[in-house]
Amino acid sequence: MTEHHCIFAIFGATGDLTNRKLLPALYYLEQERQLKEDFRIVCIARKDKTHEQYRKEATESIRRFSRIKVQGEVLKKLASRIYYQKVEFSDLEDYNRLKKFVEKISGQSCVNCERIFYLAVPASFFSMIVDNLRTVKLAERDHKKQAYNRIMFEKPFGSDLKSAKELNNSVTKVFDEEQIYRIDHYMAKELVQNLLVLRFANSIFEPLWNKEYIDHIQITVAETLGVEARANYYEKAGAIRDVMQNHMMQLLSLVGMEAPKSMDADDVKDKKVKVLKSLPKLTEKNIKKVSVIGQYGNGAIGNDKVAAYNKEKGVDKNSKAETYVALKLEINNKMWKGVPFYLRTGKRLKDRSTEIIIVYHKVPFKLFSKSDPEKNMMIIRVQPYEGITLQFNAKVPGKKVIIDNVNMDFCHECKFGPNSPEAYERLLYDVMIGDQTLFTRWDEVENAWKIFDVLINAHKNSKPSKYESGSWGPKQADKLIEKDGREWVHPQRPSYADQLGK
Ligand SMILES: NC(=O)c1ccc[n+]([C@@H]2O[C@H](COP(=O)([O-])OP(=O)(O)OC[C@H]3O[C@@H](n4cnc5c(N)ncnc54)[C@H](OP(=O)(O)O)[C@@H]3O)[C@@H](O)[C@H]2O)c1
Repeated sequence: MTEHHCIFAIFGATGDLTNRKLLPALYYLEQERQLKEDFRIVCIARKDKTHEQYRKEATESIRRFSRIKVQGEVLKKLASRIYYQKVEFSDLEDYNRLKKFVEKISGQSCVNCERIFYLAVPASFFSMIVDNLRTVKLAERDHKKQAYNRIMFEKPFGSDLKSAKELNNSVTKVFDEEQIYRIDHYMAKELVQNLLVLRFANSIFEPLWNKEYIDHIQITVAETLGVEARANYYEKAGAIRDVMQNHMMQLLSLVGMEAPKSMDADDVKDKKVKVLKSLPKLTEKNIKKVSVIGQYGNGAIGNDKVAAYNKEKGVDKNSKAETYVALKLEINNKMWKGVPFYLRTGKRLKDRSTEIIIVYHKVPFKLFSKSDPEKNMMIIRVQPYEGITLQFNAKVPGKKVIIDNVNMDFCHECKFGPNSPEAYERLLYDVMIGDQTLFTRWDEVENAWKIFDVLINAHKNSKPSKYESGSWGPKQADKLIEKDGREWVHPQRPSYADQLGK
């Protein structure tokens, strides 16, 4: 690990992600004094702009989107590090000019100058930008100076296994795996990082984390939003590529992995990949039996009426894009044999919530004849009510033994305060210090695509089942879990929700 980074180049600097997330995250790092004196930010997009024009726009975005109170002096300092460079992504001459500019501004002050390239652009540009960086020799390793460039990719990394491999081949011509930072911002969420602490720093949980005690696991990523302004991307991606192949596989592998031998990035990733490799071989025929795709119809979110997906702007009225997917998977190893993992994600569902639910076996004998105790559950709330709920059975006061289930809640924000670092603050900091733990290694991407290629192909010609906006998804998804004698545990507001004002 080294900290001599001095050029941070953002491709796509006029885009939504840069304005809403990256610039505010850089502001946070400036305020926290995490940026070195010689750190320069080169913001790259295709419009003509002066440095001053861009700095003005950037400071407006930071004032608008910063999570923390903006201090004038700090903002001024950050703005003085920012430069703007016009590059049309397909124009090699623009890259030559960019190279000269980068050399000019990094020349005097950087001894071991490293460059970090952040591709905050649509994925269709990833290969083109990498190829052009290579051609103009902007990203080459400088062995003399021991400079160590890095590149960051937004998701999705490829749209299937073949395109992901092609992209990876082109990237690895310029960068080694330890220079490549594939982002899955879910990994930087506090409660996701907390998962490993919950599991491996508590002797009361880990011994029970296996098939002997766990009946099944549910992972839900539910959104109330519709497609918004992303129809162009979403029509091609759908819920499988947008959420399940990446965010949900990260959650599944963290929940399913064995204890790593250390918290080093590679030790953790080795165990995560082992989970993906232990998923049974799926064929299009058998995966269809354990999956359901859906598309939202008309309905209401709260009191607001909303239109069906195929009536949204930019969406084909006969669109077959799935806005919902449910999938049952089993991890074929000693730890999990016979324990189903039910995954579901969708847009325009009843509530916004990401949860991992561990459902324990029923007690093996019936001691209380009048009352049937519920299965114990642990609910790990990733968002929006970050925390953990343990649900267990207790006696209702009175002469008779009546059993009811009760909750023990850990509210993350009540305990640690509301200002947890934002995912991008953490991710930018980690890339600067060269820590890849929260980023996705190539074999994680590759093994995830192997599964989801099959799922996508299996449903290629299927018409997604319609579900009402504001519901919990299509009826077929209920049947998927009910035929196993189980049911979806829908997200509920925890006891501390009012306290958080959410
Ligand atoms: N937005 C989010 O919250 C979010 C969250 C997670 C992941 N992502 C991912 O982040 C990436 C960027 O998303 P975004 O929402 O920020 O996209 P966006 O708003 O469409 O921005 C794209 C950026 O690329 C530039 N650009 C496009 N074509 C170009 C060309 N031919 N030459 C030079 N510049 C060009 C645009 O410049 P112009 O202004 O000139 O068009 C703009 O700066 C995507 O891969 C997305 O999937 C976004």
